[in-house]
Amino acid sequence: MLNEGIMPKYLIANWKMNLLAGSSLELAEKYKQKLKGIKGLELAVAPSALYLDQLGKFFRKTNIKLVAQNVAAQDQGAWTGEVSAKMLKEIGCGYVIVGHSERRHKMGETNEMVNKKINQCFNNGLTPILCIGETEDEKEAGRRNSVLVKQLQTALDKVNGLPENKLLIAYEPVWAIGTGLNMSAAAMFEVERLVKRTLSGLYSEKFYDTEVSLIYGGSVSSINAQEFWNLDFMQGMLVGTASLDAVEFELIAQQAS
Ligand code: PGA
Repeated sequence: MLNEGIMPKYLIANWKMNLLAGSSLELAEKYKQKLKGIKGLELAVAPSALYLDQLGKFFRKTNIKLVAQNVAAQDQGAWTGEVSAKMLKEIGCGYVIVGHSERRHKMGETNEMVNKKINQCFNNGLTPILCIGETEDEKEAGRRNSVLVKQLQTALDKVNGLPENKLLIAYEPVWAIGTGLNMSAAAMFEVERLVKRTLSGLYSEKFYDTEVSLIYGGSVSSINAQEFWNLDFMQGMLVGTASLDAVEFELIAQQAS
């Protein structure tokens, strides 16, 4: 069975470190109003960790799910400044973005740390959104495939909770994040085949077909969203910049149907 048609499509907003409390709540209010009529899409928002609790309560009876932007690699204890998977679960998070390229390239997060974080998610009933993607230099050097395979194989090595749980993979080429640059459909298809091959090798093809959703991220906007929704081998999008504007985000959502 192919995974087209049996998985929901996802639209996930990543607000990053952009909004203070007042503007987070204002944007949440606009999301609630504008997205309430959207059907058939799994909608989710990743605000700053500081506002997760408050926004989780705010979105509780809506069609919008709560996502954390990061999680600690450890279970609990003397890890100053970290937020554990248990804490995220307790306040109602369903998903966690793990291994975002900004954390990998600006905060020094390694594939091994990403692996621990993925384990923490599954140990605590959270669905990870594992981000993978090559940098521009890696792309130019013809290393895209080897980088992606390494990221997947290390992150998903001996993970508790797989293959019996859901996993989201966000393919986000680093050169496309926040730059306005986009990827061709043909290149995207190559990446999808590569991810499928790699995960089928690690677990099984059935796992890929039934539990894995591959989404795209990188300069998605209301101008190009239709092209991404049209790709039936992809299951949705992770949106940064355009998600800070509720009108833009609504336009992206509307194009899914
Ligand atoms: P962008 O960010 O939409 O601004 O390119 C995407 C992301 O970092 O997830």
